[in-house]
Amino acid sequence: MTAILALGAILILILLAGFGSQVAGLQVVFGVAVPYAAIALFLGGLVFKVMSWARTPVPFRIPTTCGQQKTLDWIPSARFDNPHTTLGVIGRMALEVLFFRSLFRNTKVDIRPGGRIIHTPAKWLWAAALAFHYSFLVIFIRHLRFFTEPVPGFVKAIQSVDSFFEIGVPSIFLTSFLLLGALGFLLLRRLVSPQLRYISLANDYFPLFLLIAIGTTGVLMRHFQKTDIETIKAVAMGILSFSPVTAGGGALFTIHFFLVCVLFAVFPYSKLMHMAGVFMSPTRNMANTNRAKRHINPWNHPVAFRTYEEYEDDFRDKMKAAGIPVEKE
Ligand code: HEM
Repeated sequence: MTAILALGAILILILLAGFGSQVAGLQVVFGVAVPYAAIALFLGGLVFKVMSWARTPVPFRIPTTCGQQKTLDWIPSARFDNPHTTLGVIGRMALEVLFFRSLFRNTKVDIRPGGRIIHTPAKWLWAAALAFHYSFLVIFIRHLRFFTEPVPGFVKAIQSVDSFFEIGVPSIFLTSFLLLGALGFLLLRRLVSPQLRYISLANDYFPLFLLIAIGTTGVLMRHFQKTDIETIKAVAMGILSFSPVTAGGGALFTIHFFLVCVLFAVFPYSKLMHMAGVFMSPTRNMANTNRAKRHINPWNHPVAFRTYEEYEDDFRDKMKAAGIPVEKE
């Protein structure tokens, strides 16, 4: 049901943009108002969220520990799984962000006949997640050709590697199809497994459908209903230079562009914010110095406490009478 709801929302957005592209008066809405509103919502939300996370006090070291903590010199500690230095934290973060290391170690739990619980590796999720994120990054960088003049060399280089096999005219970009394939897997995974379907929310399906719609309209534009790249470039550069043009670009482009705006607008308010959140997470960005250093809660109010010495002074006679060992005779 939640999947249908999310799909319905995407279809409404597509219809809205399709309709907008046909009405001349609405071009200013879809070509100017919507992109600037999306940029404002994206930047505003991003800054607000990051600032509020940054302001949240974290008085204790609470890193996720997956290995031996740094302790006595002769006990080897896990440098990345339980980092105790800033360098170790940077290393762990880099492995996490670049290779999704914790997802790589994700396992699937199954109950076998007889109630035996078994854990099996689940590498497909890791592979699809990695494929999706890297394809997205490459597509994002490739799209810079619409926003720059002259197009930077690294954009052209990535573009030629991505279309290396030169299949079709214009040649297909491998990442376009890798992106759609990976997204398809991530969606089917949620729909097919009853357990995952049970815990999936509209917030899980919406970004998947949105990204699939963006990718599909992009591929359609490149290979089926060609779009005038000069017009697109004028629209893109107009927005960046604060002199927007309402040149249109056709129904397919309006839909593609509008969905991208929606993606940016909802980004900071959705689960997609894990992009910034991973860096702000105290379970990932803190060094585990709990044994090396005593961390005192800064909000501790002064408490009148009694030391053991004082306690023993008070009860020494009674303790001795009861045969309890004492420190001072
Ligand atoms: C989240 C951002 C975006 C994603 C994921 C995305 C995705 C895609 C994909 C997968 C394609 C298929 C061909 C290719 O891989 O290049 C494509 C094509 C295209 N996209 Fe995007 N897009 C995004 C943003 C934009 C923006 C902001 C614009 C407007 C300037 C745009 C305009 C186009 C155009 C004109 C094409 C056709 C390219 C061609 O004919 O070579 N896209 N997009």
